[in-house]
Formats: sequence, structure tokens, C-alpha cells
Amino acid sequence: MTTFILGADHAGFALKEHLRKVLDQLHIRYEDLSPDVVEGDDYPFIAKRVAKLVVEKGDVHGLLVCGTGFGMDIAANRLRGARAVVVQTAEEARLAREHNHANILVLGGRITEPAQASHILKTWIDSHPSYAQRHVRRVHQLDSDV
Ligand code: RB5
Repeated sequence: MTTFILGADHAGFALKEHLRKVLDQLHIRYEDLSPDVVEGDDYPFIAKRVAKLVVEKGDVHGLLVCGTGFGMDIAANRLRGARAVVVQTAEEARLAREHNHANILVLGGRITEPAQASHILKTWIDSHPSYAQRHVRRVHQLDSDV
């Protein structure tokens, strides 16, 4: 069963709370590392904490939400082994899981409506990495020095 580690700043907090309820309805376990809603809760620290745990544990997914998703995405991807993608459609979520073996879903709380975010999250959960040789090779290349 998929497990998630959640993180949101003040701009992503409301959407993250909505997605907690979706995970509850699906009986999917999660740990929420988000600080309480306060101005000054800086997204790089939150994203890096979540990404570190995702990389270390290996069998969990990250779910990050800030205003646009961009800051969380940039910060999370500074960690080798983190494959964070900011998406706005379910199709992007599916392809990121299948082709890129993405392990952190990033959403923009000021960009994506709650219903669409639920659809994206459910599609992410139902999508799985493709182990076609070309995808495996390219995912390995992401973490290799070139
Ligand atoms: C916070 O105002 C905002 O900059 C942050 O949530 C995020 O959108 C950054 O990428």
C-alpha cells in the first residue's frame, strides 16, 4: 500500500488539507510534516525534509504543495534520488509515474482547484513505473554524473 509524506507551506496549506481528506477516504496512510499556517514557513526547508525521507525510505511517495508548486519542486529535486514533478493534469501525473518514476507529486495551491487536485492524486496512486528498458535506463541516467 502506498504511503505518503506530506508537506505544505502557507500557500499550499488549504489544498494539502483537502488532499489529506482524499487520502483518508482511500484509507491511504500518510505522515504530514507541514508546519502550522504561519507566514515565514519557507518552502525550501519543507520540501527538502520531505524529499530526504522519500529518498531514504524508498517505498513512500512525497506530496508537496506551495503556491505554484515551483519552489517545492526546485528544492526537492536538489536531492539526488528525488524525482519531483509539478503537474496540473492527471495525464501528466500518469506519465511522470510511468516514464520518469516520479516519487514526489507537487501541486500549486494557487493554481489547481481541489477537485482537479483530487483527480491528479488518485491518478498518481493508480499509476506505476514502467520497467520498459528505455525508461529504466533514462531514470538511472538522472542520478548519474555526466
Ligand atoms: C509563497 O508566497 C510562495 O512563493 C510559495 O508558496 C511558492 O509558490 C513558491 O514557489
